[in-house]
Amino acid sequence: MPPASETLSYQSNFVSAEPASHQSGGAAVPDRLFEYNYFEYGGFDLELYFVREILGLESLHYGCFELHEPLTLETVRRAQHRYTQSLVEMLPSDVERVIDVGCGMGDVARAMARRGKTVVALSPDRNHGQYVAGSHPDLTFVNEKFETFMATEPADLVLMSESQNYFDTVAGLRQVRRCIRPGGYLLISGMFVKEPCAEFRDIINTEGGYFEAAADHGFDVIKRSDITEEVSPTLEFARRSLEQFVEPLPRLLDHYMRARSPVKYWFLRTFFRRQFKDYQRTLDYYHKRFDQALFKEKVRYLRVLFRQSTNGSRAGLDPHTEAAITGRRAPA
Ligand SMILES: C[S@@+](CC[C@H](N)C(=O)[O-])C[C@H]1O[C@@H](n2cnc3c(N)ncnc32)[C@H](O)[C@@H]1O
Repeated sequence: MPPASETLSYQSNFVSAEPASHQSGGAAVPDRLFEYNYFEYGGFDLELYFVREILGLESLHYGCFELHEPLTLETVRRAQHRYTQSLVEMLPSDVERVIDVGCGMGDVARAMARRGKTVVALSPDRNHGQYVAGSHPDLTFVNEKFETFMATEPADLVLMSESQNYFDTVAGLRQVRRCIRPGGYLLISGMFVKEPCAEFRDIINTEGGYFEAAADHGFDVIKRSDITEEVSPTLEFARRSLEQFVEPLPRLLDHYMRARSPVKYWFLRTFFRRQFKDYQRTLDYYHKRFDQALFKEKVRYLRVLFRQSTNGSRAGLDPHTEAAITGRRAPA
């Protein structure tokens, strides 16, 4: 039986009700709170809209803060720029072709293209194309999920910047093997839970579990750094934004409509009861999700550079499975 996440058509990671370790044993148990896709409603991406159109930011990732930097929109912008540039600096010198898996608004892919790399940037979110497609001559946008992506040319490196938790770990690692040249790289910058936990159930990977799976697919760790301290101030900024901007607005509208047209207001509340409830639950979820102290207690934000081992060490796949995955010929 395939892992539960493979049976789902594209939805945000918040739909995945169970951590990956629980998924492999059977179908995921639906959780009332997580049966909704909180990111996308009929093509409207709530988070993207808030980040891009309300805050005016150019990235979806957390950014890297410096010690004691104040929390303002301007410093978040700088932190995101710093994060992007430091990822570009991590590219090994023998990397020319990059696949950016889950490219978001494409700022990392663009920065790599500006550095002279040829980049294929993919995202299943149809809203992302408007920010990525055509933004650099050496950057190609593909509106697809990684699991079904077919690379036309092998890449030197696959990048997952805050995207490795959006699809099944093993399916993702198999795809990386299909997409890279022998001896190619996988660069991950993203979150791993210390232990699977309810508060961060969207983070399906633990560090140990992921590294084990990567080793089983023939990937050695070349570099690893923990940047939890640098990224976590963004959560405090997000919490303040939620409290200052997102929560008061519906309350304001509520008061206004009740005062202007009490009867229409009653119909509105009655007909849209479920949507109002969903919205409130979304806010409640984000409140917990943006708790910086809890984040640091439960989560590690890591940067890891893996390289496919050329001597086959620990590549727990037999040559025929390997050939079936990569399409390369198995040795006789
Ligand atoms: C948090 S955003 C990160 C965006 C970007 N990499 C960055 O660092 O700003 C997660 C991205 O993963 C994408 N994604 C979700 N499911 C995916 C899948 N199955 N395959 C590839 N990308 C996926 C989302 O559409 C989004 O672009």
